[in-house]
Amino acid sequence: MNWLQLIERRVSVRQYEPDVDEATLAQVRKICEHAKSYNSSALKYFLLPGSEVHRRQKSIGPIGRVLAPWYIAAVAAGDSEALFNLGYSSQRVILELTALDLGTCWLGALFDREALGDSLGLGKGHAVRALIAWGRGRKVPGTVDKQSRRLPSEKIAFFAGDRDTRYPWRTVLEAVRWAPSAINRQPWRLWFGAGAVHLFSKPGRLARSFAPIDMGIALCHLELACKQLAIPGSIAQTEHPQRKGWEYWVSYIFD
Ligand SMILES: Cc1cc2nc3c(=O)[nH]c(=O)nc-3n(C[C@H](O)[C@H](O)[C@H](O)COP(=O)(O)O)c2cc1C
Repeated sequence: MNWLQLIERRVSVRQYEPDVDEATLAQVRKICEHAKSYNSSALKYFLLPGSEVHRRQKSIGPIGRVLAPWYIAAVAAGDSEALFNLGYSSQRVILELTALDLGTCWLGALFDREALGDSLGLGKGHAVRALIAWGRGRKVPGTVDKQSRRLPSEKIAFFAGDRDTRYPWRTVLEAVRWAPSAINRQPWRLWFGAGAVHLFSKPGRLARSFAPIDMGIALCHLELACKQLAIPGSIAQTEHPQRKGWEYWVSYIFD
């Protein structure tokens, strides 16, 4: 399966079979050890069994705990660069787990961050910023139709008149559109221009603190889509257009 297929296939899985075999565990450990970073911010992954995590999870009203046999604890500093990197790197880990036919779910809240951090003996300033629940997904009938759970393309993308028409931009857009985001807020916005695709966010009141992670996830999808479609280029910050209400992050600049 290629990256575009993995992006399409991934959904948040919230119910799991109880066990994972040793060989799979070893594969996931290897994936975490070789995770690709975007910048030089410190990022560390810990593989934790359910027994270490379940007692530190919380539930609020109808929002229950996501009980998985295993979790990946993503540990980083709390600044925007570190969280952006965490989103970028961890989403690639998630897609690699999807390739192993494993279910995953990002968990940004509803766990005792301090207790988990203490048990891992984390250094000052570093904390478990997110957990990734993972395991063999349990088949749940009546899953919601994916299409109804994303903003329409015209709300998240702007196509400049002078954009390069050689490449399938709609496919790139779809790949970003299917990125997961905290409370499904979908803060990412894309500007398809002459020399680059620019990635922006639309700040909102809800889940603000998760924006850097969400944007790192979106960049992961943007880059993988461009590479898969053989669109030559690389990621960097560059001159970019201004759009009211949009905040600039980074661009995929064409060679
Ligand atoms: C940073 C982040 C934090 C998240 N936190 C939670 C969470 O605490 N609990 C949960 O059930 N889902 C959580 N999610 C999953 C989102 O709700 C989910 O990605 C979104 O609704 C889109 O659905 P999909 O992943 O199935 O495409 C989180 C996602 C992200 C990216």
